[in-house]
Amino acid sequence: MSRFYLTTAIDYVNNRPHLGTAYEKIAADVIARFHRLAGDDVRLVMGNDEHSQNVFRRAKDAGLDPLAYCDRMEQEFRSVWAGLNVSFDDFIRTTQPRHKVAVQTLVQRAFDSGDVYEGVYEGWYCVSCEEFKPEKGLIDGQCPVHRTKPDWIKEKNYFFRLAKYRDALLEHYAANPTFVAPESRRNEMLRLLEGGLEDISVSRAGQAWGIPLPFAPANVVYVWYDALINYAAAVGYGGDAALFDRWWTQTGQSRRQVVHLVGKDITRFHCVVWPAMLMSAGLPLPTQIFGHGWVLFKGEKMSKSLGTVVDPLAAVERVGPDPLRLFLSKEIVFGNDGDFSWDRFEEKYNADLANNLGNLVNRVTAMAERYRNGRLRAMPIAGELSAAATETEARWRAAFETLSLDAACAVAFQFVDRINEYIATEAPWKLAKEGADDALDTVLWNASEALRLAAVLLWPVMPASCEEIRRRVGDASNDAHPIWARDGQWRVDGERVVVSGPALWPRLEDKEITVSDEIPTPSGPPAPPSVPAPASVAAPGADVPAPAEAVAPSSPGAPESLWPMESRISIEDFMKVDLRVAKVLTAERVPKSKKLVRLEIDLGSERRTLVAGIAEGYEAEALVGRTVAIVANLKPAKLMGIESNGMILAASPDGGKPMLVAFDQPPAPGTRIR
Ligand code: MSP
Repeated sequence: MSRFYLTTAIDYVNNRPHLGTAYEKIAADVIARFHRLAGDDVRLVMGNDEHSQNVFRRAKDAGLDPLAYCDRMEQEFRSVWAGLNVSFDDFIRTTQPRHKVAVQTLVQRAFDSGDVYEGVYEGWYCVSCEEFKPEKGLIDGQCPVHRTKPDWIKEKNYFFRLAKYRDALLEHYAANPTFVAPESRRNEMLRLLEGGLEDISVSRAGQAWGIPLPFAPANVVYVWYDALINYAAAVGYGGDAALFDRWWTQTGQSRRQVVHLVGKDITRFHCVVWPAMLMSAGLPLPTQIFGHGWVLFKGEKMSKSLGTVVDPLAAVERVGPDPLRLFLSKEIVFGNDGDFSWDRFEEKYNADLANNLGNLVNRVTAMAERYRNGRLRAMPIAGELSAAATETEARWRAAFETLSLDAACAVAFQFVDRINEYIATEAPWKLAKEGADDALDTVLWNASEALRLAAVLLWPVMPASCEEIRRRVGDASNDAHPIWARDGQWRVDGERVVVSGPALWPRLEDKEITVSDEIPTPSGPPAPPSVPAPASVAAPGADVPAPAEAVAPSSPGAPESLWPMESRISIEDFMKVDLRVAKVLTAERVPKSKKLVRLEIDLGSERRTLVAGIAEGYEAEALVGRTVAIVANLKPAKLMGIESNGMILAASPDGGKPMLVAFDQPPAPGTRIR
């Protein structure tokens, strides 16, 4: 069994978590769950960074003792992490005694070995970064991250001999090519090391909020030097030798990993300062430091001080944690920055969950109930879906092992697409009609088995929903989590009871999630009113014409347009027409009609019958399986005695045959077109 110790950055507690800080914790949770699923011995540690001056000030403003304030914030943080279903094994706070012991042990060791010496620091200090800032790093005299003027300070400090470790660090980088990931961060750190290092200050004078230096107790340990040690403190450094050996030193453990997941803004501390501190203390270095990108909102880093924060619980309250976990894992290339917007969140929710996976769960369970009263028997002919599952597993595992969370999600959803295609091809409704019992049993078993496996593949990202899918397809388990060796294999024996249930992810209509860009600040000033939603209802990037009043009137003398300005409709009028993607399930010529075909279509959330005048352009059989565009909100009309529910979009060239509107790649049924 491999041992996997994973940490996140510990958060400053001057504000509640926002979507940016939550992103890191969700990503860590997804990675930790993948390793648990793989059968590894996992420890995920998160926590709070409490010795910052901003925390101290915030507590004072609230009229609270700093520790009492931090206690309160711990509850705030824990409740957000619980809301997002983040499953940490330990939560460390830098005011805990175990942390203090570890910090004092490590700094004393560095002092004893001559790596800490006394000096004077004079220069800029940004309190929000808690960082000494070189003049050349400022933009117009301001901190480039927080856009505020740093403080000028001059004080007696203790310094750590960071410069001494430059060559050893370069050697470690050369011997361990994946020590820093992704590649872009590694290159950035290599450039920094090659440029030479300066010693860093490790204490602050004249402050009471912090951990006293054991050899000079009038000074406190600089907050970053203090905070980095949490990773060792959480596994017993300086206090519990057995625990520390188990998770950090890992003597005699052949397959072991210690991985730090942090934001790209704090990689220097983690990839240069922290390893040098460990080298100085004679301790092994972590296996990898992964510097993830930022979640941007309106193009800016999400940050309270910039006023660009989103409350992660706003989505959770409406649709639960899993759609947000999926969005952040799937839509942001892990390691890169990625934009968040409510429009895109809703769009992806509808496409991936409501119309695709959710609809698949409904169809499979409903067919099992309708045709077999929910009782399915294992069938020996597994066929293409079982082969696809094997091939999917290899790609999914490789993606997770290289921390390509987005690719792992994409692979799992490609498997979901295969299941949809299988059902469309095998057409169980036809088999039921024909009374082809064995064939129907085979298709129902295979579809439910594949869906069960899809739920295992997606479990690290959407744990609660996947447990529910497993329950519906008759694979309920009392275990804390699935185990790949047992639950990831295609099953060819037994029976299962499949149950249907309410839609897992009902479609969201435009702007259904209340957009509030502000997070209430505990004990702070009242939050300003939320930012109003943009007037346009179009998805970002959608090719929607500008509103009529923005269009310049045609110039006098220009040829008469087919669409004179006064006859044009507004975007609101256009949006009343609900155009959707649909998939043709069955098609047959309407008897005694030259033009009409009767179609049964899958619209994602429902099936419908419609009658289309396209028989002159298409053989009925050739239409089955095609993806078409339809007007979904037309009132029903009777054509040759058949009720038609919707209209299919086709071009009818003069004197030619009708031609269906087509797509480059077939989008999922139910996807909105605009
Ligand atoms: N307390 C330090 C970390 C000390 S670790 C020894 C700190 N805290 S923080 O609260 O400012 O940030 C916590 C983590 O959240 C960091 O890894 C940071 O990069 C990450 N993020 C903060 N804003 C973020 C985004 N907008 N997007 C993604 N991650 C972001 O730094």
